[in-house]
Amino acid sequence: MDIPKSKSTSSDWTVSIFLFCIVATVSGQIRYSIPEEMRKGLFVGDIAKDLGLGVDRLVSGRARLVIADDHQYVALNQNKGHVVVSERIDREKLCAKKSPCSFSLEIVLEDPLELFSITIEIQDINDHAPSFPKKEINLEISESTPTGTVFLLDSAADPDVGINSLQSYSLNENRYFVLKQHTRADGSKFAEIMLQTGLDRENQGEHALVLTAVDGGDPRRSGTVKIHIAVLDANDNAPVFTQSVYKASVLETVLKGTVIAKVSAADADQGYNGNVTYYFTHLEEDSSCPFEINSYTGEVKLTGDIDYEVSPNYEINLQAKDPWGVTGASKLIIDVADVNDNVPIITMASYSGKISEDSPFGTVVALISVQDKDSGKNGQVNLNIEDSLPFQIKSSLRNYYTLVTKELLDREKLSNYNIKLTATDEGFPALSSKQTLVLDVTDINDNAPTFKKSIYSAKVMENNLPGLVLLQISATDSDQGQNARISYFLIDGEVNGNPISTYFSINIESGIIKSTRSFDFEQVKEYKIRVQAQDGGSPPLNSNTTVIVRVQDQNDNPPQVLYPVQTGGSLVAEMVPRSADVGYLVTKVVAVDVDSGQNAWLSYKLQKATDRALFEVGLQNGEIRTIRGVTDKDAVKQRLTVIVEDNGQPSRSATVIVNVAVADSFPEVLSEFTDYTQDKEYNDNLTFYLVLALAVVSFLFITCLVVIISVKIYRWRQSRVLYHSNLPVIPYYPPRYSDTLGTGTLQHVYNYEVCRTNDSRKSDCKFGTVGSQNVLIMDPSSTGTMQRIQSEKNILDEPDSPLEVSQIM
Ligand SMILES: *[C@@H]1O[C@H](CO)[C@@H](O)[C@H](O)[C@H]1NC(C)=O
Repeated sequence: MDIPKSKSTSSDWTVSIFLFCIVATVSGQIRYSIPEEMRKGLFVGDIAKDLGLGVDRLVSGRARLVIADDHQYVALNQNKGHVVVSERIDREKLCAKKSPCSFSLEIVLEDPLELFSITIEIQDINDHAPSFPKKEINLEISESTPTGTVFLLDSAADPDVGINSLQSYSLNENRYFVLKQHTRADGSKFAEIMLQTGLDRENQGEHALVLTAVDGGDPRRSGTVKIHIAVLDANDNAPVFTQSVYKASVLETVLKGTVIAKVSAADADQGYNGNVTYYFTHLEEDSSCPFEINSYTGEVKLTGDIDYEVSPNYEINLQAKDPWGVTGASKLIIDVADVNDNVPIITMASYSGKISEDSPFGTVVALISVQDKDSGKNGQVNLNIEDSLPFQIKSSLRNYYTLVTKELLDREKLSNYNIKLTATDEGFPALSSKQTLVLDVTDINDNAPTFKKSIYSAKVMENNLPGLVLLQISATDSDQGQNARISYFLIDGEVNGNPISTYFSINIESGIIKSTRSFDFEQVKEYKIRVQAQDGGSPPLNSNTTVIVRVQDQNDNPPQVLYPVQTGGSLVAEMVPRSADVGYLVTKVVAVDVDSGQNAWLSYKLQKATDRALFEVGLQNGEIRTIRGVTDKDAVKQRLTVIVEDNGQPSRSATVIVNVAVADSFPEVLSEFTDYTQDKEYNDNLTFYLVLALAVVSFLFITCLVVIISVKIYRWRQSRVLYHSNLPVIPYYPPRYSDTLGTGTLQHVYNYEVCRTNDSRKSDCKFGTVGSQNVLIMDPSSTGTMQRIQSEKNILDEPDSPLEVSQIM
């Protein structure tokens, strides 16, 4: 400071005001300049010197300072004549903004009274920093505020003046606001901030700035204030989903009501502006969406049925809305995960239920379709059958299988199969379904009839009645139905030049063999018949057997005496010489019996004898021997009746008369035997035979006559009836034919066809061959012509034969 220093000697303040009023003259003017805030006692000015007064004068004049103020800022040091600071001087308090700042005081001297005025100018020092009225400035600015908007700030104050007062403001560096400074008319300065960049509450909700006010002192002082800017929300944000695509996966078996996903959208706006509600949008109208979204929470729930097989995924558009209708969008993709919830379904694409037993390997029995609605492994199906069956499964197309044979089938072993099909998918756990096919093996004629025995035998007594049942043969055929229907036939053969069928008949169905005639053991002892059994298959199969019919002997033949020959008239006698000894062989009765066995076992007995004591007959051999010596007394003529018996039951016998002549010479014998005559007996017999013959001849003649006439008349009538008749003649079938027509077992089909017309010129008569339909069509329009419908050829057209009979075998 280059202000001159004042000397002050006064220190007494108390009476100065009273003295001031009576000051009459002011003899001088002194001006001091001091800075404010000087310490007490510091020198202000040397008034003794400056006023030109000696210190003595001051003392003697009892110099004192009179200050028109409460404050005694300065005091006088009388001894030195200096004015010194007695109290801290605050320029700001003293003058506030007034500048320059000074106060005046007077020095009063007594003896003589002198008054001097002193002005002390207080110089400002920068003892104040700029200060703001509040510690913090709070601003609220809407984020929608346009840039360029200006906000006035509280000014800072600095009591200093001049250069020491507030000079400028500064704002900390920031991108949003810039500072604008203005100077008022009174020179005070204020600041504004201007928004230079759009605010975004969502980006930065608060800003903190520091405003600094600086004065121009040395050193400079400054004051700061914090500016707190709260950015107010504007609904400038749409709700935004947390993900652009939400993905969820749900098992198709999940229960309704399950929360599947939760979506959420954030609205950066605040408070009410940030309330978000959720919706599904753009749902196609026809598809009923099985999901529902909770508008408030964003939870997506299953509310309907989902089925992977129907819809494997859903894509739903999401919308989030704030209260002002500003929306945000996203997507929700829900994948439905397949669960093995579908059982494979077995369907017969083609199945007849039958297979012929002669089908070769690999014959297709059925075409099977197996469907499983599931996908992936869950939908992959394997079809199986039991291994033991003679079938196997082959897969053809996808999901199609064929059931084929892997072995040859034999209906006779097993005529039907229950084939259990099992379809199993590969899911976990696997699901399966079963189906049973019933397959019938149809018969083919692969088995010939078989006879129970290779040879049958039967016994029959000779002289049987024709029609006697001899035996029943039977054959079996393991085929089925027609193929097992057996017919029996005799195989042609001959016995003694006659066809075998004249001896035997067989019932075509029952196999009962009967005799058709009476057998004679003595003619044929044994018949070998060959019989065929034939089934009804096409072509038929047959087998043969042999039937041996043994005729058994009956004792139907009496013994026949061969020797001695029995003649009617002549006499034969055996000669026995009188000299014959005992045991002499007279003769031998020879007899045979055509029967056999016991029936032909002959025994000989002497039935009658002239002299029983003379002869005996050998029981076995029929030898007639003497049993004693012949004597003279014995008659020449001996007559023996020998009975020959067979051993049959009952036995048959024949008698023979043996004449024995006991003589030595032939004349003797003759004379003895001449009276043996049988003339009378012979004549009687002759007469009887003649009468009998006459009667028989007459009877035959008359009978023949009657028969011939009858036949003639019958034929004549018959031909007239046929000639005038318009009626067709119904074919005649032998009874057996019609009996068995339906069964078809008859092998020999007798087919008689008769055609008759009364107008030979127009006749059109056709005859069928075997295999034609046995149908007669009567056509009334064609003037009585009867047509026989048949397949082809063999058209007979013989106008001159009114009656045609055709037999086809
Ligand atoms: C049975 O006999 C008939 C006639 O002799 C013959 O044609 C047929 O082949 C025989 N059948 C068998 C199986 O031997």
